Amino acid sequence: MTINDYKFAGKKAIVRVDFNVPLNENGQITDDTRIRGALPTLRKVLDEGGSLIIMSHMGKPKGKANPKMSLSQIVDAVSEKLGAPITFVDDCQKADAQAAALKPGEVLMLENLRFYPEEEGKPVGIDKADPAYDEAKKAMKASQKEFAKHLASYADCYINDAFGTAHRKHASTAVIADYFDADNKMLGLLMEKEVQAVDNVLSNIKRPFVAIMGGSKVSSKIGIIENLLGKVDKLILCGGMTYTFSKAHGGEIGNSIVELDKLDVALGVEEQAKKNGVELVLGSDSVCCTGYDFSTFSVKPGAEIKVFPSNAIEEGWDGLDAGPESRKKFAEAIKGAKTILWNGPAGCFECEDFTAGSRAVGEAVAKATEEGAFSLIGGGDSVACVHKFGLEDKVSYISTGGGALLEAIEGKVLPGIAAIKGE
Ligand code: 3PG
Repeated sequence: MTINDYKFAGKKAIVRVDFNVPLNENGQITDDTRIRGALPTLRKVLDEGGSLIIMSHMGKPKGKANPKMSLSQIVDAVSEKLGAPITFVDDCQKADAQAAALKPGEVLMLENLRFYPEEEGKPVGIDKADPAYDEAKKAMKASQKEFAKHLASYADCYINDAFGTAHRKHASTAVIADYFDADNKMLGLLMEKEVQAVDNVLSNIKRPFVAIMGGSKVSSKIGIIENLLGKVDKLILCGGMTYTFSKAHGGEIGNSIVELDKLDVALGVEEQAKKNGVELVLGSDSVCCTGYDFSTFSVKPGAEIKVFPSNAIEEGWDGLDAGPESRKKFAEAIKGAKTILWNGPAGCFECEDFTAGSRAVGEAVAKATEEGAFSLIGGGDSVACVHKFGLEDKVSYISTGGGALLEAIEGKVLPGIAAIKGE
């Protein structure tokens, strides 16, 4: 079934969205990309005379209720954007009466699904090494099915529009689909758009294909980096992972972030790039600081800022952004690209002093897009950069997925999509 063929009039639709949006310390949404992304699906159901039960997770509450991750904090914002009042149900397993009474045009929103361990389906409070673990896992899988079945009982049809969580095989993203027949489960409009964008990059590669991978750790990106080495013409590696590469070559990196157990991985990436004829572009200089507060994203009073070569950073200095030479290198590598994938910032962009690297990347991507490239941006931080620099209308597609996008680009089957398509 597709969302465009389904007749929503008089039907109750339970919709899994990814409203795992960033909040500031006052519980206000700092980036509403994911909410705006889900609106077309939600509006469609209401406009066609259906009613909605919206469900999502927020954060990683590990199976316990946690007010800091309560979806009650975003109800008003969602309601305003949707243009419809929303009744909040503060326990996702206790919506029976409200769901039964739901009338066309009405909307319920369930509390954070992950307040129940059943959503993720991992046994809690027991170590994998414990001999009783397998039994506990079996029991949890059984209660996960019950949990999903209960959610399914609220509605006539199920829509999965949570691309950001499609790489998780959770109760609300995958297991629930077993309780609807093929005519009553479908992907949402956002999901379809995201799949199309990934397809544009993977099946329709126009060359040169340039990927920009940023962020602090090689370890969290190694899967996608290795995969991209088989696809791209140029790979720019920036952000904190620069220093693991510098260190692997015996460079001095001062106090910069490094993964000492991944030096061989970094060298392996370089070797593979050479073998595949991929141009690997790494930063050669860095904007460094003597006192950066990572919790408040600010330079501590009295701290100094200075540019060093990325392999000769003095003790006491921390590499926090791409330097002027690196920025030029990155922009040069992006120029002329016809397909672009950007995931992860080039520096600690949250602080004004260290935005230049990410800005240089963003502006080069926008310029290449203007000259005909298809550019796909994904991952919370790179998306935040695009917004911060006002480039949202100058790139081809902004994905709501972080990990999900990377897994899709790796060519992995996403459980949330497979559950609907019956793959
Ligand atoms: C994300 O933010 O990438 C998605 O909401 C998935 O969240 P998770 O990594 O906690 O499953």
